[in-house]
Amino acid sequence: LAPTTLQFLRSMNPEAKSEMERMEILADPGFGKHFTDHMVDICWSARGSWHRPRVQPYGPISLDPAAAVLHYGQEIFEGMKAYRHEDGSIWTFRPEKNAERMQRSARRMALPELPTEYFIDSLKEIIKADGAWVPSEPDTSLYIRPFMFAKESFLGVRPAEKVNYYVIASPAGPYFAGGGVVPISIWLSTTYSRAGKGGTGAAKTGGNYASSLVAQAEAYDNGCDQVLFLDSEENKYLEELGGMNIVLVYKDGTLVTPHSDSILEGITRDSILELAEDRGLKVERRRVTIDEWREGVASGDIVEAFACGTAAVVTPIALVKSADFEIGSADAPAGPLTLSLREELTDIQYGRREDVHGWMTRL
Ligand code: PLP
Ligand code: COI
Repeated sequence: LAPTTLQFLRSMNPEAKSEMERMEILADPGFGKHFTDHMVDICWSARGSWHRPRVQPYGPISLDPAAAVLHYGQEIFEGMKAYRHEDGSIWTFRPEKNAERMQRSARRMALPELPTEYFIDSLKEIIKADGAWVPSEPDTSLYIRPFMFAKESFLGVRPAEKVNYYVIASPAGPYFAGGGVVPISIWLSTTYSRAGKGGTGAAKTGGNYASSLVAQAEAYDNGCDQVLFLDSEENKYLEELGGMNIVLVYKDGTLVTPHSDSILEGITRDSILELAEDRGLKVERRRVTIDEWREGVASGDIVEAFACGTAAVVTPIALVKSADFEIGSADAPAGPLTLSLREELTDIQYGRREDVHGWMTRL
């Protein structure tokens, strides 16, 4: 039986930001720095399943020091955006895909699966409470962060029997300081792997990001914006960046992206590749080595590369740097196919182009 719609208990924030404070934040939101006035919270227990759905003032979560998440990292999250269209309406992109991915992440991390209906209801609730926080300047949105973690106080190592699901939201401009279309540099990590065979690489779980941080710090130290990981077994196949997928463009217009069981299946990547296929371009999801990239750029066969993800949208890659070699150059301009796919995707997301795939959901 399909779960019935949840009845959320709503308590509004008496200390919500004033319109003036909010407008000031929305004028220059940055990324992940400011949060809206409310959050959504749904409890789960092994005995009672999902219960007590609430919208409450944004604020600290009280946790027992023995809460399992603090010790064993049993946690998952999602990332998506709400877009304001010209008529003022608020939309999100393929939310059922995020709901399904969160269910896959939950299975891998021994957490309960939140039904898709509840997931979408929770997005509608946060927008009902905080819709005024969706900015309207070009390339801005409200970044929505659903997450779930083990709240049970118990130091034995087993799946927790008490779990909470939350949704918070944060007004967002471009993820990278240079803006949306300024090409980035990436650092090839040869010391660290992000995920291994049979591990949790395909789940959106905090541990994957924790394990990427020292490599990301190395990227910053080397003047790069993101870190690129290779496979952990042979250290030669491309996997993904710290927080986004990667796509290479060949001179005949073919798009090549790594196939791997240990990377996140990006919804942005999936959508971009579908738009490319609609244009009659060839798309290959296969294993691809760092040498293929290096030789392809040297011979002129590989003409563009980009990063893609909810936060990054589609961001051109100018340069790959490692301790031993470089691919491309820091001042390389953004590729034309990269820019035109980015434009097509964002036109759909912001309601400037017909949504022929039925990807948009009104919140
Ligand atoms: N890979 C990683 C590690 C990510 O964190 C993200 C961002 O969520 C992606 C890929 C891209 O996924 P999506 O396009 O669904 O946002
Ligand atoms: C997202 O794009 O939603 C992510 O989770 C990636 C992170 C770099 C913010």
